[in-house]
Amino acid sequence: MPKSWLQLSFKAPAPALDTISNFLIERGSPGVVLERNEVRAFFARSTKTSALKRDIRRFLRGIRGIYPEIREQALRWTALKNKDWNNSWRRFFSPQKIGRYFSVTPPWMDPPPSRRRKVITIEPGMAFGTGTHPTTRCCLEFVEEATALLNGEEITALDVGTGSGILAIALAKMGVSKVLAIDNDPISLKVAQVNVQRNRVGKIVTLSNFGMGRVKKPFTIVVANLTAETIVDLADALKGRVSPHGYLIVSGILKPKAEEVLRHFCPGPFTMARQANQREWTTLLLRKMG
Ligand SMILES: C[S@@+](CC[C@H](N)C(=O)[O-])C[C@H]1O[C@@H](n2cnc3c(N)ncnc32)[C@H](O)[C@@H]1O
Repeated sequence: MPKSWLQLSFKAPAPALDTISNFLIERGSPGVVLERNEVRAFFARSTKTSALKRDIRRFLRGIRGIYPEIREQALRWTALKNKDWNNSWRRFFSPQKIGRYFSVTPPWMDPPPSRRRKVITIEPGMAFGTGTHPTTRCCLEFVEEATALLNGEEITALDVGTGSGILAIALAKMGVSKVLAIDNDPISLKVAQVNVQRNRVGKIVTLSNFGMGRVKKPFTIVVANLTAETIVDLADALKGRVSPHGYLIVSGILKPKAEEVLRHFCPGPFTMARQANQREWTTLLLRKMG
């Protein structure tokens, strides 16, 4: 655990928040909190702090053409002790109801008891997938929908880019018998391992650093919350890993790129079952023909 942390806060227009939050997560922030028009991000203090500050300023300058309201002079950096970081950070997380059947909760809180909802406990830490991002939320809703549509069948699933493991855990909790969860980031795999154990689904979920090329079997459900570009790159592999009548959930697609992504799957072996648009993101639920 780092000894001290930095908190960055600044104002930004609402449509820019997702883009900014993705950049800050990629640049190593284990936690980004978005509140109305304010971004708050936490970074471990290290010798690379000046490079980090420079990169963030450069990034914000780069998007100022689209969002002229962003002022890089208004960036506020505050040093926090570990204890303060924990308090500042934790206060933003509370149990969330997602879809009809899930409650996603941080480990230090109990969600309100519910007979219907399945609790997924996720430490909001170093990996993407705390349930706060619209792409994760839409994927969880489509996981519910696909498992309901396959009602009664034995279901196996592949989670490509598992991050915190949230979707793999959700699939296991919806009764999927085997889930293979892959990620090319070793830190995410470590975080996912902790979350899989914490949710007691270790017998169902297998975590691996396999690339798609090494996954050979077909699965009834394949979920991939990546980016439009990565989905297009992996399109052939993804198509081949869904069994006939199975479902493919793809997300992380910025709305203007949705049609281009869709062209790689439909018409063809897939038909579109549903499309969800939340903020600037599109998520697709595709069904493979027999
Ligand atoms: C947007 S996060 C999704 C996390 C989680 N599945 C969710 O829905 O919240 C994408 C994850 O995919 C991983 N990733 C990106 N490209 C990948 C690839 N080609 N193969 C495997 N994992 C990849 C990243 O490391 C990251 O953990």
